[in-house]
Amino acid sequence: MSDKKSPRETAVRALMKMGGGKFSEAVLSEALDVTPMDSVNKRFCTTLFYGVIERKLTLDCIIGGYSKMPLGRLDHEVKNILRAGLYQLLFMDSVPDNAAVDESVKLCAAFKKTSAKGFVNALLRQFLRDGKRINDSSVAVKYSINPEIYDSFRADYGETKAAEILESFLTPDVTYIKLNNRRFTKDNLPDGFTPTDIPNVFSSGNVNLNSPEFAAGAYHIQDYSCAYACNLMEISGDEDILDVCAAPGGKSFTLAEMTDGTVYACDISEKRLEKVNTGAARLGLTNIRTFLHDGKSFNESFPKFTRILCDVPCSGLGVIRKKPEIRYKNAADFSHLPEVQYDILENSVRYLADGGMILYSTCTLRKAENEDVIARFLENHPEFTAEMRTIFPFDFNSDGFFIAKLAKLRTDK
Ligand SMILES: C[S@@+](CC[C@H](N)C(=O)[O-])C[C@H]1O[C@@H](n2cnc3c(N)ncnc32)[C@H](O)[C@@H]1O
Repeated sequence: MSDKKSPRETAVRALMKMGGGKFSEAVLSEALDVTPMDSVNKRFCTTLFYGVIERKLTLDCIIGGYSKMPLGRLDHEVKNILRAGLYQLLFMDSVPDNAAVDESVKLCAAFKKTSAKGFVNALLRQFLRDGKRINDSSVAVKYSINPEIYDSFRADYGETKAAEILESFLTPDVTYIKLNNRRFTKDNLPDGFTPTDIPNVFSSGNVNLNSPEFAAGAYHIQDYSCAYACNLMEISGDEDILDVCAAPGGKSFTLAEMTDGTVYACDISEKRLEKVNTGAARLGLTNIRTFLHDGKSFNESFPKFTRILCDVPCSGLGVIRKKPEIRYKNAADFSHLPEVQYDILENSVRYLADGGMILYSTCTLRKAENEDVIARFLENHPEFTAEMRTIFPFDFNSDGFFIAKLAKLRTDK
């Protein structure tokens, strides 16, 4: 099915589908699938969609300041038209103010809310007359974040670093790729791919998932922090590797490109595991075997491994830039995670050969899911040593990430 809608309308329709735990990437991708548009419009729609989610609390604060009706009672359509209009006024320099207002008013008709035209026009124009002022300097409004997340960063790293983290989530990140060095060299990459200090990892402003080199499997997108973690696994050539939580597969791909052995890529989600198979096929990697398996339970049929990756499910507070909906999660949404993470780690140890190494990692910056899980593990496993590193999102303009390299020194207790 395809139809012709403007990028603004498509973005607002997609915004209305958010909520209820939905992922922005999936919602947008579905919206773009049914509304084909050229690359310029696609970029506009994408920027507007992600931008509104990213700045939702800031935008809602403005709407709340002008509307006589409480925010919660505004029509869903009107609220999202206003959010999109305000986002263009505040953050999209390429859009003239008049166009942002006029197009927002036109959207009211597209959404069968013609009675709201006057209200939308008046609110946006009054905001312009007032010099685009935001009369609230609270952390929640300034950074558009659930204050519970700020409190967690502040408790773990102090006020200054917490603010630095939140600032960095509002600046553009860098896209990194991992070259498939099994089958390609850097000469197969187009211009604009800059080497990093990690072998075969490049930064680029020129990643095109419709390009022939991507289709041929020359690289996969992988954040710097994730490539860094894979590199710490010290693969020397032919190790079999257990990847306990592998989907959608980025780290399995990199590890499979580093070893002549087999990567056992496990995940609890069948649907996500399909992505590992699809990605491995595109990259031409034949040394990945996928297993639908719960990392908390022991699989008798697995051998012992000298290298195990536990890239556990987490709150994702390090990847807020890529997944802006995480900004509005509550602390209660995360409280169960340390127990799950610990259980997966504890079970994974049972597959580890003496002298082997487990790499525990998360894409979050909550100590409860990082250092505290490792401290508990070390208390119960004196036969391990740990080296830990937190990568902050401002370190490499990458995701925030935590890595603990757990080396098994002695034989089992
Ligand atoms: C952080 S993601 C892994 C990302 C992956 N390592 C990569 O680089 O693409 C965490 C994964 O853990 C999976 N997961 C959650 N609970 C699990 C469990 N009990 N056992 C195994 N996998 C689990 C999720 O389905 C998700 O795919």
